[in-house]
Amino acid sequence: MSKLHAWAVWVFVAVLVAYLVSVRRGPQQVRRAAWILLAITLGQGLIGYVQYFTGLPALLVGLHMLGSALLVAGSTRVVLTTRTRA
Ligand code: HEM
Repeated sequence: MSKLHAWAVWVFVAVLVAYLVSVRRGPQQVRRAAWILLAITLGQGLIGYVQYFTGLPALLVGLHMLGSALLVAGSTRVVLTTRTRA
């Protein structure tokens, strides 16, 4: 399940990179939010691999959950920067 989980992450990274390419000439706040999301994703992925290869130490699992919450917040931010309030 961890490997399947990691593969899904790589698909997410690929989609995110494609998104970054597609918005490279778009509004600055959209690009900024997407770059921040990429940074969160790579940090979260790094924690994921380290915890996987070190027997799931509690501290790293906790950080992985924090990263997961940050990733949801970062994704929401990307969506919100592409919209204006009615
Ligand atoms: C975008 C990146 C990632 C996100 C959002 C994410 C999110 C999560 C979440 C929400 C869980 C808890 C699942 C549950 O308990 O039901 C989890 C668990 C786990 N993740 Fe990730 N993950 C990411 C990347 C990775 C990567 C790259 C690996 C490397 C193999 C990894 C390895 C693990 C492992 C081993 C667990 C089980 C931890 C435990 O049960 O104590 N994760 N991840």
